[in-house]
This record gives sequence, structure tokens and C-alpha cells, in this order.
Amino acid sequence: MVCFRLAPVPGSGLLLLCLVLGAVSSYALELNLTDPQNATCLYAKWQMNFTIRYETTDKHNKTVTISDLGAATYSGSSCGDDQNGPKIAVQFGSGFSWIVNFTEETYSYSIDSISFSYNTNDNTTFPDAKEKGVFTVSDRVAFSVPLNDIFRCNSLSTLGKNDVVQHYWDVHVQAFVQNGTVSTKEFLCDKDKTLTTVVPVVPTTVPSPTTTPPKKEKPEVGSYSVVNSNGTCLLATMGLQLNITHDKVALVININPNTTNFTGSCHPQTALLRLSSSSIKYLDFVFAVKNENRFYLKEVNVSMYLVNGSVFSIANNNLSYWDAPLGSSYMCNKEQTVSVSGAFQINTFDLRVQPFNVMEGKYSTAQECSLDDDIILIPIIVGAGLSGLIIVIVIAYLIGRRKSYAGYQTL
Ligand SMILES: *[C@@H]1O[C@H](CO)[C@@H](O)[C@H](O)[C@H]1NC(C)=O
Ligand SMILES: *[C@@H]1O[C@H](CO)[C@@H](O)[C@H](O)[C@H]1NC(C)=O
Ligand SMILES: *[C@@H]1O[C@H](CO)[C@@H](O)[C@H](O)[C@H]1NC(C)=O
Ligand SMILES: *[C@@H]1O[C@H](CO)[C@@H](O)[C@H](O)[C@H]1NC(C)=O
Ligand SMILES: *[C@@H]1O[C@H](CO)[C@@H](O)[C@H](O)[C@H]1NC(C)=O
Ligand SMILES: *[C@@H]1O[C@H](CO)[C@@H](O)[C@H](O)[C@H]1NC(C)=O
Ligand SMILES: *[C@@H]1O[C@H](CO)[C@@H](O)[C@H](O)[C@H]1NC(C)=O
Ligand SMILES: *[C@@H]1O[C@H](CO)[C@@H](O)[C@H](O)[C@H]1NC(C)=O
Ligand SMILES: *[C@@H]1O[C@H](CO)[C@@H](O)[C@H](O)[C@H]1NC(C)=O
Repeated sequence: MVCFRLAPVPGSGLLLLCLVLGAVSSYALELNLTDPQNATCLYAKWQMNFTIRYETTDKHNKTVTISDLGAATYSGSSCGDDQNGPKIAVQFGSGFSWIVNFTEETYSYSIDSISFSYNTNDNTTFPDAKEKGVFTVSDRVAFSVPLNDIFRCNSLSTLGKNDVVQHYWDVHVQAFVQNGTVSTKEFLCDKDKTLTTVVPVVPTTVPSPTTTPPKKEKPEVGSYSVVNSNGTCLLATMGLQLNITHDKVALVININPNTTNFTGSCHPQTALLRLSSSSIKYLDFVFAVKNENRFYLKEVNVSMYLVNGSVFSIANNNLSYWDAPLGSSYMCNKEQTVSVSGAFQINTFDLRVQPFNVMEGKYSTAQECSLDDDIILIPIIVGAGLSGLIIVIVIAYLIGRRKSYAGYQTL
């Protein structure tokens, strides 16, 4: 183990940096950052290589792969302090630098951003580069890991596009290490869980680390409210599961209320509930009044960060869900689906919402989603007394009808 004493940044907690040397391959970084009490605060072991494309003086594109971190230095790495989160800063080769920073939330921490810089002035690595200078690519990752868990991803993941593609594998990282002991509780990336080749979307949620694939379990129910000068004006209680379909692959993400922020606004004719988290830029539910006596969910607007650095956004302001009389709340305990687009659905569980006329911060009488269907269904089954076949047909019809009206209150 080799320790470096770094010039302490004024006010910074970091004094010492220890590199664990040993079976370290040249494309791996491995480091153990310690605080002034010599307690480990950040641990990382991370294999990587980089493919960089650049334009040459004769207008061709060349690619170069950097897979040798060689004698890396870690200047600027820090446990963080009151102002700045922890970060790993690695310098290697002829002017390469790689920085990853972390942020802490209540129940989790996030791998916030990863930035990579290279210097095309180096003629050996970048012969005939047309543009000389230092280039930096920065990707917001916003990947949440439960606090006190070590993140592990042995599978290959890819970050970036076009000019710089970063490959990572055999990743083990834990920031905000508690009590100086690196956790033994691993939080796996989706690929390690399922070993499929799907690009994992940043989990919005922090599912419990023992969660085994596929994340089909019910989401935890969250309570959200919006307050204005007159007090609480919007109430919502619900478990939310997002379903993003891309290339025929559905990515199902449970929203963890513990790591989700909420805000919103209330107006006479519209009300907004906005959820956000490290991986959800915003998820807006917009309610409206119709016929002066009913409310409904009119619009959903979502924007999420994907792990490959791109942003997934979709909006639909022509919805008609969760319809109930003003002065009451809408309730649906069974699973319902809000279909925002072909590529984006929200499954709701144990739902109750009241976007208007909230009195004393409490829900008013509930109008339930499935009331009608059940009332119709029972007399038909009891009264008809027909052969099983006919009953089956009727039920099949009703279920079919109920499905196509899922979430729509016909009264
Ligand atoms: C931390 O470790 C270094 C040597 O590894 C030692 O000199 C120093 O006294 C230790 N500091 C504390 C607070 O234990
Ligand atoms: C970079 O790493 C990936 C994953 O291990 C590997 O498939 C690829 O061949 C590597 N590239 C080079 C040039 O070493
Ligand atoms: C080089 O890459 C750029 C994108 O970075 C692309 O627009 C251009 O067409 C490429 N040139 C050649 C010759 O392939
Ligand atoms: C992390 O780094 C990115 C740029 O690389 C920066 O925009 C962001 O503010 C940093 N986050 C924190 C918490 O320092
Ligand atoms: C850290 O130490 C404190 C006090 O000794 C203890 O209460 C806490 O549970 C420990 N945390 C972990 C994650 O071990
Ligand atoms: C997600 O959406 C796809 C496509 O609409 C659907 O086939 C799949 O059953 C949905 N999964 C869940 C858990 O809702
Ligand atoms: C959320 O917090 C509650 C209370 O601290 C805890 O019981 C629950 O397990 C947490 N849920 C998740 C998904 O982390
Ligand atoms: C929803 O997204 C669209 C397109 O970005 C935007 O024009 C609209 O104002 C958004 N609505 C809300 C309520 O934020
Ligand atoms: C990122 O992944 C999403 C979903 O898999 C895909 O639609 C998008 O094209 C990807 N973006 C890039 C830049 O690779």
C-alpha cells in the first residue's frame, strides 16, 4: 500500500490518499481515500478504457484507444467537505484526466457526473490532429446507490458517444463510506442482475439490494402534497411504477418515495404535482377541471436521465384519467395503468388523489375506480344463472371492456 500526502485544499477534509497496489492491471484504477482520522471515506476499483475519435489534417477521422492508465496520479481526489461532494480525479498518460463526483441524498448517494479530458497536442497519441487542444466530455450519470452499499458492476457498461466512448467493467465503488469500513452489501447494476444486454436505465428507485430480478414487485406507496398560502391544496398517495419501452424492451422502474422530491402549484382550474429525483428531472401530473364539477388527470410530462447520458422526455396533455367530482378524492387500490404514450406507461398502486378543494389538509370522500364494474358484474352473475360458458363470455367481455376503460370513471 502506497500513501501520498496531498497538499491539503484549505478547508478540505482530505489529507491522505492511499493507493492499494497489487494485482492492479494497467487499465484499472483502485483507490482508498481516507479522511484525517485515517478512516476510509471512499473506495473504488474501476476498470476502463477509452476510444477517442478525432479529425486529422487531411480530413479523415481516426480513432485511438486508451487502455493503459499506467502510472496514474490522483491529485484532486477528495472525501469532500461541507461545500463539495467527494470526487475521484485521476491523471494519466499524456494529459488525460478522468473525474467522477458524488452527491449524498437522504437514503442514497449518487454517482453524479463523469468527465474525461484529453489533449490532442500530444502528437504521439493523436498524430496529425487537426484541432489541437484540451477537450472535455462530461456525462451526467445520476446513478443512485443506497447509502452504505457498495455499487458493483462486473458487466461491461458504455458511456458516451461519437467522439469519446468509455467502457467500464469490474466496477466497485462506494462513496460516503460509514465508520471507515467498506460495505459488504453490494448493490448490483441491472446487467449484473439479469446479465442481458439492455442498456440499464438509471434506477429512480433504490430497490433493496437483495432485490432479485426483474423489478416486478409493487412500488412503495408515497405521500405527496402541495401547499400554497391557504394551506395544503393538493394531496396524492400512490405507488408509482414507470414502464419505458425501447426497442421492444420494457424497463420497469419503481419510484422510491424516500428519494423522491415533490413540489407543485394550485390554481382554480389546474393543479400540478411535480416529482423529481437524481434520475428524474421532472415527472409532472397536471390536473384540470371539466364541466365545472369534475376533475381529471389531463397531462403527464416526464424527463428522465438515462445512464448513457441521454435524456428521455415525453409529454401528453390529452389524457383523461382519475376522473371524479370536485370536492371528492379519486381512489383506486388495484393496479391501474396511465398510458402516456406507446413508449411510456405509469402503473399506479393504492392510488388516492385530490387535486382541488382540499379541506384542512385531509382527503374528502373518495370516489372509487372499480365501483361500477363490480356492481354490474355481481347482478349479472347472480341473476343470469346461465351456463358456465355464457358467464365466461360475459366476464370476458366485461374484463375486456374494463381494460379498455382502465382508469376512466364512467358514471
Ligand atoms: C494516520 O496514519 C499515518 C500513517 O499512516 C500516521 O502518521 C497518522 O498519525 C495517522 N493519523 C491518525 C489521526 O491516526
Ligand atoms: C476496451 O474494453 C472492452 C471491454 O473489456 C473491450 O471489449 C475492448 O476490446 C477494449 N478495447 C481495447 C482497445 O482494449
Ligand atoms: C468525422 O466525424 C464527424 C463527426 O464527428 C462526421 O461529421 C464526419 O462526417 C466524419 N468524417 C469522415 C471523413 O468520416
Ligand atoms: C460534478 O461535476 C460536474 C462537471 O463535471 C459538475 O457540473 C457538477 O456540478 C459536479 N457536481 C458536484 C456535486 O460537485
Ligand atoms: C457507525 O457507528 C455508529 C456509532 O458507533 C453506529 O451507530 C452505526 O450503526 C455505524 N454505522 C454503520 C453503517 O456501521
Ligand atoms: C410495460 O410496457 C410494455 C409495452 O406496453 C408491456 O408489454 C409490459 O407488460 C409493461 N410492463 C409492465 C410491468 O407494466
Ligand atoms: C424508505 O424509508 C422507510 C423508513 O425509513 C424504510 O422502512 C423503507 O424500507 C425505505 N424504502 C426504500 C425503498 O428504501
Ligand atoms: C410539458 O412539456 C412541454 C414540452 O416540453 C411543455 O411545452 C409544457 O409546458 C410542459 N408542461 C408542463 C406542465 O410543464
Ligand atoms: C441511450 O439509450 C436510449 C434508450 O436505450 C436510446 O434511445 C438512446 O438513443 C441512447 N442514446 C445514446 C446517445 O446512445
